[in-house]
Amino acid sequence: MDLKIAVLPGDGIGPEISEQGVAVMNAVCEKFGHHVSYQYALCGAEAIDKVGDPFPEETFKVCMDADAVLFSAVGDPKFDNDPTAKVRPEQGLLAMRKKLGLFANIRPVETFDCLIHKSPLKDELVRGADFICIRELTGGMYFGEKYQDDEKAYDTNAYTRPEIERILRVAYEYAMRRRKHLTVVDKANVLASSRLWRQVAKEMAPQYPEVETDYMFVDNAAMRMIQDPRFFDVMVTENTFGDILTDEGSCITGSMGLLPSASTGEHTPVFEPIHGSWPQAKGQNIANPLAQILSVAMLFEYFDLKEEGALIRKAVNASLDANVRTPEIQVEGGERYGTTEVGQWIVDYIKNA
Ligand code: IPM
Ligand code: MN
Repeated sequence: MDLKIAVLPGDGIGPEISEQGVAVMNAVCEKFGHHVSYQYALCGAEAIDKVGDPFPEETFKVCMDADAVLFSAVGDPKFDNDPTAKVRPEQGLLAMRKKLGLFANIRPVETFDCLIHKSPLKDELVRGADFICIRELTGGMYFGEKYQDDEKAYDTNAYTRPEIERILRVAYEYAMRRRKHLTVVDKANVLASSRLWRQVAKEMAPQYPEVETDYMFVDNAAMRMIQDPRFFDVMVTENTFGDILTDEGSCITGSMGLLPSASTGEHTPVFEPIHGSWPQAKGQNIANPLAQILSVAMLFEYFDLKEEGALIRKAVNASLDANVRTPEIQVEGGERYGTTEVGQWIVDYIKNA
């Protein structure tokens, strides 16, 4: 297969993990005889500094022209600490999502047996938890009408029927391929937007008789996720609830630094780690590249290249088993491995597989 990849390394540790993602992608393509080419583009704080726009038109063009985007991270504290800043790196991410029509954010919440002890939950509660959160990504409060003055401010949580239908469709398709259990998360006891979500979901459910659909209020879902995370198989929810619940989901696994995500929709799909740009670690070769590397696995799987994805997952598991780990998950007294060493180990594993 011929793959044209847009690479957006972004800020902080972004460029370091991006490099390892690309190295792994190259190794897999070589092994399976795919041809891959890359085009690098600016985004986030780096793009603001260089061209004054966190998602420049040129970057948009590069993305539109590619088969997939390998995204790393954006964000820089110099903007967080400046309330007068008119443009922020995060706006680049939001612009990318909107302009590429990436309405479906797929965030798998998986545990790794050897990292269970890092979870804030008891081992017996969380072991084996494996669910996917499908977060609507281009609607709701993030993009609804906003207003702010010194006395009053609001954000509008607007959703239309087609927006709800298309994300529910994605969720049902995932549920069909998994354990056939879908949880629709909303706040229908209070919010009108949620009541429309629930209405549309109830209309659609009979089209998927094999799937058990349940409806849960978001506050209850937040609780259930820590009391009984294995309850969930596929969860679908609106943009803001999904933002909050996926942070909760990723941290209960004990392996936040290992979780990838995919954003798909109308145009080029984007694959990125769930974690952020960790500016304090920039240039220190300590960031864990595994979430980025697993994003590459998701990228292959998106194109139905299952063996390629599986080999990456196997290599990642082998590296963890071999204690080839970055400092935050290193076992006591273990050898020190940096970002580049972990990446290189995985590349070698793939080459020799
Ligand atoms: C995420 C992030 C973003 C979001 C921020 C950086 C705008 O938290 O991808 O979850 O809120 O969607
Ligand atoms: Mn978030």
